[in-house]
Amino acid sequence: MIGAGTLAQAIASHALDTGHEVVFSNRRGPDSLADLVARLGPNASAGTIDDVGGTDIVVLAVNWTQVPDALAALPPRPGRILVDATNQWVEPPPAAVVDTSLSVGGSEFVASLVPDAHVIKAFDNMYGPKIAEDPITPTGRRVLFYAGDDEPSKRRFRAVADGFGYAPVDLGPLVMGRLMQVDGPLTGLHAIREELGHPLGMP
Ligand SMILES: NC(=O)c1ccc[n+]([C@@H]2O[C@H](COP(=O)([O-])OP(=O)(O)OC[C@H]3O[C@@H](n4cnc5c(N)ncnc54)[C@H](OP(=O)(O)O)[C@@H]3O)[C@@H](O)[C@H]2O)c1
Repeated sequence: MIGAGTLAQAIASHALDTGHEVVFSNRRGPDSLADLVARLGPNASAGTIDDVGGTDIVVLAVNWTQVPDALAALPPRPGRILVDATNQWVEPPPAAVVDTSLSVGGSEFVASLVPDAHVIKAFDNMYGPKIAEDPITPTGRRVLFYAGDDEPSKRRFRAVADGFGYAPVDLGPLVMGRLMQVDGPLTGLHAIREELGHPLGMP
C-alpha cells in the first residue's frame, strides 16, 4: 500500500481477511503506522516505500496532489501490477474537482509515471465505507469494476478480487478507467451482482 488512510485500510482489510500479507507505507514513516498494524494482526506490517517496492502488487491510495511524489519514490520493478485507486480530486473546495470531463484519464497519467508497471484502475468509483464492507452481501456479490491494458495482470487482479468476494467486471483497456473518474458515469455506483437462484435474482 502506498498510503495508509481510509481507502488503503478498506482494501487491505479484504487482503488480510483472505490470507495475503500487506505492507503499508505513508509519508510520515513506519513508526507512525505502529498502532494500525498492531491492530490488523501479524500479516500487516509497516514499511518504507522501498519495502513496498519489493512487492509485486502495489496499491496507490494517496490523494491526487501526492501522486507524483509518491510514485517518484517507488523503486522500479519491471512487470509489477500497480492498482491505481486514486481520484483526481483536490480538497478542500473550492479547488474541488481537477477535471470533471472525461478528457483526461487519471490512470493514464499515473501509468506515464510508472512505465515499468502494469496499471489497473479499480476501487476509485466506490466510497470508502462501502469498500470496507464485506463484498458478499445477502443478495449477491458487490461489483468491482476494473480497467487495464495487460491481460495477464488483469487475470491476476481478477483472481485476487474474486478471492476477496467481489464480482469483478472488466471494463476493458486502461482508457476505460475514465468511466470511474470523479463525475464519470460509474462514480458512486455500488452495484451488486445478484446470484442465479436468489429469490430476487434470475430464476
Ligand atoms: N476515502 C474514500 O472513500 C475513497 C474512495 C475511493 C477513492 N479514494 C481515493 O483514494 C485516495 C486516498 O484517499 P483516502 O481517503 O484514503 O486519503 P487519506 O485517508 O487522506 O490517506 C492518504 C494517505 O496517503 C499517504 N500519503 C500522502 N502522501 C504520500 C506520499 N508522498 N507517499 C506515500 N504516502 C503518502 C498519507 O500518509 P500521511 O498520513 O503520512 O501523510 C495517508 O496515509 C485519494 O486519491 C482518494 O480520492 C478515496
